[in-house]
Parts: sequence; structure tokens; C-alpha cells
Amino acid sequence: MDRGHLHVPVGRDYLVPSRTMDGHFFALPQSPQLFKQLLMIAGFDRYYQIVKCFRDEDLRADRQPEFTQVDIEMSFADEKQVMDMAEGLMIRVFKEALGADIPAPFPRMTWDEAMSRYGVDKPDTRFGLELQDVTSIVSNSGFKLFASAKLVKAMRVPGGESLTRKEIDKLVDFVKAYRAKGLAYTRLTADAETSSYEKFLTDAEKEAIRGRLGAEKGDVLLIVADGNNQTVFDSLGALRVELANRLGLIPEGKFNFLWVTDFPLFEYSEEEGRYVAKHHPFTHPAFEDLDKLESDPGACHARAYDMVLNGCEVGGGSIRINTPELQERMFEALGFSEESARAKFGYLIDAFKYGAPPHGGMAYGLDRLVMLMLGKSSIRDVMAFPKVQNASELMTQCPAEVDEKSLRELSIAVTAREEAE
Ligand code: AMO
Repeated sequence: MDRGHLHVPVGRDYLVPSRTMDGHFFALPQSPQLFKQLLMIAGFDRYYQIVKCFRDEDLRADRQPEFTQVDIEMSFADEKQVMDMAEGLMIRVFKEALGADIPAPFPRMTWDEAMSRYGVDKPDTRFGLELQDVTSIVSNSGFKLFASAKLVKAMRVPGGESLTRKEIDKLVDFVKAYRAKGLAYTRLTADAETSSYEKFLTDAEKEAIRGRLGAEKGDVLLIVADGNNQTVFDSLGALRVELANRLGLIPEGKFNFLWVTDFPLFEYSEEEGRYVAKHHPFTHPAFEDLDKLESDPGACHARAYDMVLNGCEVGGGSIRINTPELQERMFEALGFSEESARAKFGYLIDAFKYGAPPHGGMAYGLDRLVMLMLGKSSIRDVMAFPKVQNASELMTQCPAEVDEKSLRELSIAVTAREEAE
């Protein structure tokens, strides 16, 4: 049991009360991030651990609250060395376990490119349906909805005319779940073009859209316009995968690896009203962005990389900050006061003062990797005793209430949940 809290944006800690120190709690480790960094500072030059991790986050098909990481750290390493090592490991594992030959080097894509072409930072490249930007075509059009949007993106679905009107209506509902206000469409049959924006765009605009998408007869074109770029990415990114599944476009037995790099260092959290780290607060900023850490945090990039397999993030890591000065600037940019940074991470800042080698690493999600190797669509299929949607376990019926005596020993009183404000 570790004091492993990381305050990464991904999830909450699972807390365990101390019996010997009233009102004090352990946090089950979300990952051993700081411990492996401390080992590098202590002079170990390589670290490798298969480790249980715990995150109190919402469950998804590829997420469980208790999962296993293959966790790696290397001193005196840069991005290339970590990524080469990580590719080599995958190539060997896939060859030995499945007899599959994975081509190297893995393709690389910046975060910007991934978002722009696929709407997600973990693109599934086993099929097309790439997104195209049509904003400039419609920005002066008489169609208010398109003209006033910040971003307008379109997707060409080859042979999509087989989708019925009813099915397209269902797709409209699908994107609304991602906050899109609607989904415009065109159906190009052998002798006609029917579209939801027929009356609103000029012939020249319609032709320019068809041209940009390389549209052919028999296609359906789908368009989302919005004032918020993320809504366009989220809705079309999800729709792309949904359509590929529905139309049977995903080939079986194919393993498409790729690296996504150049992530933003921060993302703005509306909920917290401040910037939070996109990976974690120990990620080294890109050298060329170091002078923007205070003045323009939103424009900073990270020395981080994610390994993606078939549209799923199987691993992620970064080169770490290794000086106390930069680590303190990073905490400040994240809105930690000096005292709270010291209270939470003083031991790391102190360790840096003794001289930390440049270091970096990554962690694979082992369960997720096995799920993908076996061609399963749910992580529950490869775990013994997985938790269900609300993070409970039905057989042993946990979490469970405990008796009064146990609570007294821990100085814990259970009260009714306060109404949300
Ligand atoms: P990260 O949070 O990206 O990085 O986690 C690493 C990998 O672990 C897997 N994973 C999960 N698998 C199943 N269920 C979950 N709830 C879950 N959460 C994460 C993913 C992910 O890519 N300390 C850093 C790594 C580093 O920087 O070295 C970390 O934990 O496959």
C-alpha cells in the first residue's frame, strides 16, 4: 500500500483509512510514477515492474478501477530511446505470443494531426473515413449555422447511400450525445444529390465540399459545425468508429500500432477553473516552449508520447522534469501554491536537489494489451473477477458496509451524503 496519489486528471484516488493515525488516509497508487523517478535519482539506471494500479474513475469498455501496468523507467534516456525500446518489446511479444509480424518503426503522428484527421488522440488507422476541414468553404455562406461556426468538419462515407433516412436520423441522435447540435448530410445517388442543407448552400459551395472530400456517386457526406472545436472532434471522432463498426469496415486480425506525440502540456479544466496537466505534472515541457510556461500555458507542448493500437491507448509516457526549478515552475503553472506543492511533493523536489539524471519512461496497460491481442472489445473479457459499470463486484458484493466495531477502530462515522449544492 503506497502513498501513491498523483492528482492526475484521469481519476480520483481510492482512499484507505489509517488505524493508527486518526483522520489520516493512504491512497492506493494510481501508478508508481514518483517512486520510479526516485529510483532513477537514486542511481538505478533501469526500472521495470508489473504493478497493480487503482483509479476511482468512470468505467469504460477498456477501463477497470483495478488494473495492471507494465511500468518502465530509464535514466539518461530521451524520447527516441524509450520509444525504440517500447517498439522492440511489442514486436517481440506479438511475434512470440501470436506469431504476428509487426512492422517497425511504428508510424508517428502529432497530436494536432491526430485530432484533425481522426477527431481523437488515439486514432484507429485500420480504416479510412478521415475528417476533412470545410470551414473555409462555408465561412461566408448564407447558411448561418455553418457560417457562424468556429470549425466545420466533414466525413465521406464511401457507399454510404445504403444508409436509410431513418438510419441517418439515428446518427443525428448519436452525435447529439457528444453535444453536437446536429449532423448535416448529403446523399449522392446515381442521379441526384439530396441533402439537409440543399436550400442553404450555393451550388458552388456544395461542389467545393464534394471536391474537398473527393466525393463520388453512392457516397454519403456527414458534416458537424460548432462553436467549440472539441465538440466537432468528439462527435465526428466517435461517429467515425461507430460507422466503421456498422458498415463492417474494420478488418480482423490486423494490428495497427502508432505513436501520438507533441501533446499539449496542459488542458484547461472548466470544472476546476485552471490548467491541469494533460499527462501528469512531472512531464517535461518541449524545450522550445519553456519560455511560455507562465505567459501562454495553453500553447505549450509536452515531451510525451502515447502508444496506440487499433484505436486504443495501450501505453503512454514522457521524458520527465529533472530539476527542482522547472518542477516548481510547473506546479505554479498548475495553480499549486508553494506550500501545497511542498506538502504533497516536497520529497520529490528535495530529491531533485541532489542532482537527477535526465530520465523518462512509460507504462503499458497490460490488461488492455491482452484484450487487443485477443481481439476482444471489453477489458472484462480478459480479467478474472472484473468490476461492473458502477465499480462494484457482484459475486463478493463489494463494496460492502462494515460493522460498527471496524468503523470505531478507524474513527470513522458514516453520515448521510450531503445534497449537492
Ligand atoms: P497512464 O495514466 O497513461 O500513464 O497509464 C498507462 C497505461 O495504463 C493503462 N490504463 C488503464 N487500463 C485499464 N484500466 C484503467 N483504468 C487504466 N488507466 C490506464 C492504459 C495507459 O496507457 N505514470 C504514467 C506512465 C508514465 O508516464 O510512465 C501513467 O500511469 O493503457
